[in-house]
Amino acid sequence: MLEHNTKIFPFSKIIATGNPKREISDAELDSITNAVKTRYGIDFTNYEKASLKRGFARLIQKQGLGDIMGLWSKIMKDKDFLLQYIDDLTVNLTELFRNPEIWIKLKEDILPKLKTNPKLDFWHAGCSSGEEVYTMAMVLQDRNLLHKSTALATDLSATILEQAKKGEYSNVLVNRYLKACKQYCPNSKLEDWFEIGEHDSKIKEKYKKHIQFLRHNLVQEPMNKKFDIIFCRNVMIYFDDVLKMKVLKLFHSCLKEGGFFIIGYYDMLPIEHRSLFELYDSTTRIYRKK
Ligand SMILES: C[S@@+](CC[C@H](N)C(=O)[O-])C[C@H]1O[C@@H](n2cnc3c(N)ncnc32)[C@H](O)[C@@H]1O
Repeated sequence: MLEHNTKIFPFSKIIATGNPKREISDAELDSITNAVKTRYGIDFTNYEKASLKRGFARLIQKQGLGDIMGLWSKIMKDKDFLLQYIDDLTVNLTELFRNPEIWIKLKEDILPKLKTNPKLDFWHAGCSSGEEVYTMAMVLQDRNLLHKSTALATDLSATILEQAKKGEYSNVLVNRYLKACKQYCPNSKLEDWFEIGEHDSKIKEKYKKHIQFLRHNLVQEPMNKKFDIIFCRNVMIYFDDVLKMKVLKLFHSCLKEGGFFIIGYYDMLPIEHRSLFELYDSTTRIYRKK
């Protein structure tokens, strides 16, 4: 039985100390990620250790599981548990028009370069609750390019993808987004993009039609399409350098010739990325396929 095999299950120290708040050790982390891989086929083994530990700690606290042993037994007993709460392991933070200067750069420089293409294809890898893919739809509409665009919006989490598909956000959140929207376009009004309800606002249908939402694990699953721009912002922060290179190769193979690759402000790329991409604009972290 797994529970009694201390090689696979090195949690005896927790029982001895009885301290649920102490940090998760590397050995515990390895064994829990191996268990998750075996049980769910989701591979977190090359995720950055510190952020994954924080993620597991968050999950333990939010679900009242006490300590890593509680998490372990929950995972063993309840097959759907982790899939349901996977969002707690990663961070889903996102915004409409996050880092407005990127969208201005797209409007003023990148999209004019692509506008004569007969069709435009975009991939938002790690799209979270959808704000990024809807922002791009608004920019495309603004540039009169939405009609010939398709977007693929993928995420590891099925729960967050459901939210993304709905495109419905609380009015508190939407009003918070307005400042960044106005930086992109000072005359922008929420009514242009949303059906405003009493408590929530819903993205208008015309900004959704071109989007395909798909559950996809960047680390393990192939992608056989080609894109003009790939967005992978604030996702690779969880990956170690080995994993980053693996997904960078995937992105490289999925870009059309001269295609653009956009990462987050806190994403650090391993030096080997230079064989695949050249820096196009350092301020906005935009790269181009070599
Ligand atoms: C911080 S959000 C980024 C959202 C958006 N790209 C942005 O920057 O506003 C990170 C997202 O990456 C997703 N993610 C983490 N690991 C992933 C993987 N292996 N494959 C696909 N998505 C992943 C998480 O589920 C989460 O929704």
